[in-house]
Amino acid sequence: MKVLSLTFALVLAECILAAPSKDIAHKVKETVIPPRGWKKHSPAPKDVTIELRLALPQPNFSELEKHLYEVSDPTHHRYGEHLSKEEVEELVAPHPESLRLVDEWLVSHGLPVESFIRSPAQDWVKIIVPVGVAEEMLDTEYHLWVHEKSGKSAIRTTSWSLPEFLFDHIEVAHPTTYFPSTKSMTATFHISPDVPPTEANAKTLLSSLDVPSAHNGQVDPECNNNITISCLQQIYNMKGYVPTQTHHNRIGLTGYLEQFANIADLQSFYAYSRPEAVGSSFNVVDINGGQNSQNLSEAGVEANLDTQYAFGLTFPTPGTFFTVGGSPPIDIDNHTPTNTNEPYQDWVDYMLGHPNPPQTVSTSYGDDEQTVPESYARRVCNGFAQLGARGVSLLFSSGDFGVGDGNPDPETQVCQTNDGRNVTRFIPTFPATCPFVTSVGGTIKIPEVAVDFSGGGFSHLFSTPSYQQEAVNAFLQQLPEGTYPGLFNPSGRGFPDISAQSERFIVFVGGQRGHVGGTSASAPTVAAIISNLNDARLAHGLPPLGFLNPLLYKIQHSGALNDITSGNNPGCGTQGFNATAGWDPLTGLGTPNFGKLKDIVLRH
Ligand SMILES: *[C@@H]1O[C@H](CO)[C@@H](O)[C@H](O)[C@H]1NC(C)=O
Ligand SMILES: *[C@@H]1O[C@H](CO)[C@@H](O)[C@H](O)[C@H]1NC(C)=O
Ligand SMILES: *[C@@H]1O[C@H](CO)[C@@H](O)[C@H](O)[C@H]1NC(C)=O
Ligand SMILES: *[C@@H]1O[C@H](CO)[C@@H](O)[C@H](O)[C@H]1NC(C)=O
Ligand SMILES: *[C@@H]1O[C@H](CO)[C@@H](O)[C@H](O)[C@H]1NC(C)=O
Repeated sequence: MKVLSLTFALVLAECILAAPSKDIAHKVKETVIPPRGWKKHSPAPKDVTIELRLALPQPNFSELEKHLYEVSDPTHHRYGEHLSKEEVEELVAPHPESLRLVDEWLVSHGLPVESFIRSPAQDWVKIIVPVGVAEEMLDTEYHLWVHEKSGKSAIRTTSWSLPEFLFDHIEVAHPTTYFPSTKSMTATFHISPDVPPTEANAKTLLSSLDVPSAHNGQVDPECNNNITISCLQQIYNMKGYVPTQTHHNRIGLTGYLEQFANIADLQSFYAYSRPEAVGSSFNVVDINGGQNSQNLSEAGVEANLDTQYAFGLTFPTPGTFFTVGGSPPIDIDNHTPTNTNEPYQDWVDYMLGHPNPPQTVSTSYGDDEQTVPESYARRVCNGFAQLGARGVSLLFSSGDFGVGDGNPDPETQVCQTNDGRNVTRFIPTFPATCPFVTSVGGTIKIPEVAVDFSGGGFSHLFSTPSYQQEAVNAFLQQLPEGTYPGLFNPSGRGFPDISAQSERFIVFVGGQRGHVGGTSASAPTVAAIISNLNDARLAHGLPPLGFLNPLLYKIQHSGALNDITSGNNPGCGTQGFNATAGWDPLTGLGTPNFGKLKDIVLRH
């Protein structure tokens, strides 16, 4: 009997391998309506090659999540016992059967096993294939799509399928249905002319503003006009802190959309605002063909803002700038592998593959949540959870458009669903809505109030994580009866979690001094404060903070977060939400008080 069934199995296997794959019944995996602004241009040439990424399911992800919450909860006995690279890889490894089936399928399409590029846990596999082959594999048809306003182009499809026997063994295929809209969260750069100090001006400089939570309870009133390194050190009670763990501790920043940080501008900024740091620089890591020409006239505002503040506030902690490729124009005639416009996973793979990634990383980019296909958003978010389990703190800007969609003209703000139904609702920002990252909103002025553009609200994709349930409930309970029915999802993940100053930051760009604002300024500010807290912990022999949110919500009432209680974030033709006592969806739990946070994190 045994021999017989073995023969039978072999025959069956041969049949499957011999059968032309297009005859295998396919089942539709995902269908989307492309985001507004994208127009189908022409069929993609069959011989142009694309990098096709496939995500295999992570059957034990819930196990990883359990570990993540235990090691991130300051009241749990495992707090700070982060997982090793190998432990994380084991917990997200695909089932061997998924690996086998996917490999066999790829081989049956003429792709040699040696050409597969796998993620460290083997949960992603990347192959370079001609469009024609990808079309056969996914039973679809690729087109060149063009984004009308930006002129960006991408090879995409609106629907893809899998052979039935693979249906449960692949979760994401990219590029397929993700039409990138990744935008940086920065308001425009304004060059400010030098104003010679007047007598009246000089007088106000002599007095100071009383702010109980600030360093020595006082802040220089000039910080109401121009934010500098010194202002942030005063406001967030961090003045005088000098990091010492420069051999262990590192802070990272990510740059997308061809932006790189200019080193000459950094030196000008340091000379102006952080003289001790003049002569120091940072390490550049290029992922997937990111730009870094150092041509002064091509310096990126976002990248310069991030480096000048994150590295200026943490000097002499070593800094890393990740320049991530992902959106060069597609040169169809060149027939070289086209870039996939994949903004996050390549970076996540790099970080997960690294034995000692930076412990704190700030990102000031995001997409409208609804333009990111759910399957992709969930997988990338799970990747962030893996970094949290490894002990990495991830900070993301919450967005610069209040509850709205970022259309600069309020008259034409769309604020409608992308699913063909055109239902009006608020537009949250991804990855800020991923429950495994810390999302950073914006404030302005001293004493601080919420800035009106601070992105915030509730995810339509991710449900409220337990760590913030109580804080979110308290906010929802104080909302006036019948507030914004249908416009937001009261059972969604509320964001942001925390906030910081977001306007009138003095930066140097292309050799010129100017002002810049946005939650882009807030995220690197908070990241710098977290990095310095990590420095203090490492100096005391404690592990880094890792995933922050369970800690932040537990210490909500400790006085280490300055509750912001005024301001609102209009959008979509509404006044948005109000900053309130306690958590709110525009400033989160409030702004950090470094001194008090340091006392707390050295006790756990
Ligand atoms: C998932 O975890 C269970 C129990 O912890 C283990 O038996 C199983 O082998 C794991 N599965 C994979 C695919 O690693
Ligand atoms: C500081 O702010 C004031 C008031 O907005 C402005 O006039 C001045 O130019 C700013 N200083 C710098 C150095 O940008
Ligand atoms: C620097 O960038 C500018 C603007 O893009 C360009 O005109 C110039 O040729 C570049 N310089 C060099 C040396 O590449
Ligand atoms: C939704 O909006 C799109 C783009 O503005 C339009 O083409 C489509 O007809 C609308 N659909 C409905 C059901 O109103
Ligand atoms: C915000 O506060 C104003 C003034 O108190 C109030 O009229 C309004 O209803 C509040 N809006 C929300 C969404 O809570």
